[in-house]
Amino acid sequence: MKDIYILGIESSCDETSCSIVKNGCENLATVISSQIDIHASFGGVVPEIASREHVKNITFVLEECLTKANMKMSEITAIAITYGPGLIGSLLIGLEAAKTLSFIYNKPLIPVHHIAGHIYANNLNNKLKFPLIALVASGGHTELVYMKEDYSFEKLGGTLDDAIGECYDKVARVVGIPYPGGPSIDKLALVGKATYKLPIPLNDNSYNFSFSGLKSAVINLAHNEKQRGRDLIKEDLAASFQTVVVDTISKKTMKALKDYNVDNLIIAGGVAANKLLREKLATLCTENGVNFTFPEMKYCTDNGAMIAAAGYFAYKKGRIADLNLNSKSNDKLN
Ligand code: KG4
Ligand code: ZN
Repeated sequence: MKDIYILGIESSCDETSCSIVKNGCENLATVISSQIDIHASFGGVVPEIASREHVKNITFVLEECLTKANMKMSEITAIAITYGPGLIGSLLIGLEAAKTLSFIYNKPLIPVHHIAGHIYANNLNNKLKFPLIALVASGGHTELVYMKEDYSFEKLGGTLDDAIGECYDKVARVVGIPYPGGPSIDKLALVGKATYKLPIPLNDNSYNFSFSGLKSAVINLAHNEKQRGRDLIKEDLAASFQTVVVDTISKKTMKALKDYNVDNLIIAGGVAANKLLREKLATLCTENGVNFTFPEMKYCTDNGAMIAAAGYFAYKKGRIADLNLNSKSNDKLN
């Protein structure tokens, strides 16, 4: 069979990234230009600044990626692009670059949903086994997805308000940690004790999540401690918050596996890098005979390789777009 080389382009938030992936699993080259330092001083991503940075970076990132892979555009089979969801201005920059390359080099254009990308980041390490449940937890999403086979997605539930990564970043801000605070809260929690009492979010039988109440509870707790002249013990707050979050997510994930009689679990998205979440799910999966896999740390947060990997399977299913393809800030995973 002829090898398939997909160029993946990702620009949905604050990372400009291009990758070349062979046959949906072998990463030949990945270049990521992150804007984290630029947005950190604002406490979060500023959409207008993000789009301008993508404009500045995209051609350099693309050139460097081709050089790293020692390939020419003529050797690329097809171009996969994150068309959505994400920040509309940011998405448009990647999309215009992809469309231009598709037009000039006469290459098929493959639209990839950002969540499909996160899910297929797993395929860069271990070939996906079906049927599976995917737990997608990132700065913008918290979803449980059932997959019967490659590129078939059934959303079982998701967040009704804030995404879990967003919540991590907000809690970090409360204790004075700059954006994105998720990784720092994760580290702090490991040395703290879960001594603060926090509410358990949406403790019901559904596959949905709700984290805004928990976020408000942390903000109120910090405020009350200050009013009482007491020092907030950051490590303990991080541990208390993280324990509630990980328990809630793990419980619903294990329920989905049981209800759907599935014994493959994958996790995806920035929060999939979380140490406690990985440990807890690994333990529960071992106890319940579930095969648990997760992406390498470098493929958890946004990157072009996950888009190229997903693009390979979309391409195989004939999901090709024409040059009328538009970005969508919101779209159902399908
Ligand atoms: O997937 P991603 O790069 O962007 C979106 O698609 O949203 O995820 C970024 C999010 C941020 O909110 C960041 O704080 C969070 O993932 N994150 C973590 C960890 N590493 C990244 N949250 C908890 N623990 C971590 N170790
Ligand atoms: Zn993402």
